[in-house]
Amino acid sequence: MDFRKKVEKYRKFYEPVDHNGNHEDESKWTYMKCDHSKQHFVVHNVKGYLFQKVVNFIMNLRTTSHAFYLTRHGQSEYNDLGRIGGDSGLTVHGLRYAQKLAEFVDKNIVKGKDGNDVPARLWTSTMRRTRETAQFIKQTTIRIPSETDPSLEYEWVQMRPRAWHHLDELFAGSCDGMTYEEIEEKFPEEWERRNVDKLAYRYPRGESYLDVIARLEPIIIEMERHQEPLLIIGHQAVLRIIYAFYTGHSRSEAPHLSIPLNTVIQVAPGPVECKVTVSNLRPVLCEMSLGHCFLMSSVYRERSCIPLSKVSVPMVKMNPANYRFVSLPMILLHIKSVPLGLAQLLSFACWCSLFTDR
Ligand code: F6P
Repeated sequence: MDFRKKVEKYRKFYEPVDHNGNHEDESKWTYMKCDHSKQHFVVHNVKGYLFQKVVNFIMNLRTTSHAFYLTRHGQSEYNDLGRIGGDSGLTVHGLRYAQKLAEFVDKNIVKGKDGNDVPARLWTSTMRRTRETAQFIKQTTIRIPSETDPSLEYEWVQMRPRAWHHLDELFAGSCDGMTYEEIEEKFPEEWERRNVDKLAYRYPRGESYLDVIARLEPIIIEMERHQEPLLIIGHQAVLRIIYAFYTGHSRSEAPHLSIPLNTVIQVAPGPVECKVTVSNLRPVLCEMSLGHCFLMSSVYRERSCIPLSKVSVPMVKMNPANYRFVSLPMILLHIKSVPLGLAQLLSFACWCSLFTDR
C-alpha cells in the first residue's frame, strides 16, 4: 500500500521525458525510458560503467511474476561434523532430504494448480553436496507452445540441472574444513575480525560476503531474465545474499539471515511486495552420534550450542552409537521402556528436531 501511495504522490509532479527535444536541456540528459510490456526501451546519453550496468539490469527485469525456490543442500558429511566448506557428499539424512525435495518439486514446482505441466528450471552450485541433493529430481521432456507462434511446439526438459560456479559456497580459504571452534582457537584474531564485521571480513586466501555479492550479480540478472519457476539448490552464505536481495534486507543484515537446512523458501517478488513461503521438509531420520550431538538453543546460529554430554538428562541410558539413522518413532518406542517424565520426553523430541538443522 505504501508503495502505491508513493506512486500516486510522484504522479502529481511527474513530467515525462518525451525525447523530442521539447525541453531545452533534454538532449544533454541521461535517461532511460522503458515499456516492458512491448519490450521497448529508449536509452539516451548513457556513459560509464555504473550507468551501463543499470541499463543492463533494467532491460533484464521481468514484469511477469513467478516464483523462485531456494534451498540449501541436504545435510553433508561436513555439516554433520560441524566443519565449514569442503566438498563432502551427503549423509543418509541429506539423501533423505534429497528424496523429499524431489517429491516437493513434483507436487509444487513442475505442475500448475490445474495439474498441467509448467516448464521449470533447476540450478545448483558445482559442489558435490548440491548436485547430490538434485539427483532424485525427475527430468521429463514436455512439449510447450512457442511464444511467438502458439501453433508451434517445442521440447523442454523439466528441471535440467545447470551447475554454476557463481553459486559455490563462500570460500573460507585457510579455514576451509575447520570447525568454528578450531578457527577461534587457531586464529583468534581472524575470529575476532569476522565477529566485528562479518560482511567485509575476508578469510585468509578466501572470500568475504562482499566478494560473494560481486560474483552473484550475473546470477541475479539471469534470475530476472528467465520467465519459468526456478529452484536453486545452494549454500547458506550464497542463499542469504539472494534472499536478502529479493526481500529487501540490507547488505549488513544479509550475513546474519537464517537459511536453515531441510527447508524450501519460496520467494515471489511482485510489484508491491515480495511474498515468502517457507516449507519445512525435515526428514524423519534422526542421527544420534553423541560426538556430534548438540542441544541447540534457539540462538544456535550464534553458535551458543551446549554439547549434549554436558547436559544432565537422566533418560539417556542408551548407547547412542546404536541410534545412528534410526527413525524418531523407533527411538521414542525404546525410550518408553525407561522411566521417563513427560517433560523430558518432550525436550528430547525437541532436541531431535532441532539438532539436524546444522
Ligand atoms: O556451515 C555451513 C556453511 O555453508 C559453511 O560451509 C560456510 O562457511 C558457512 O555455512 C557460512 O555461514 P557463516 O558465514 O555464518 O559462517
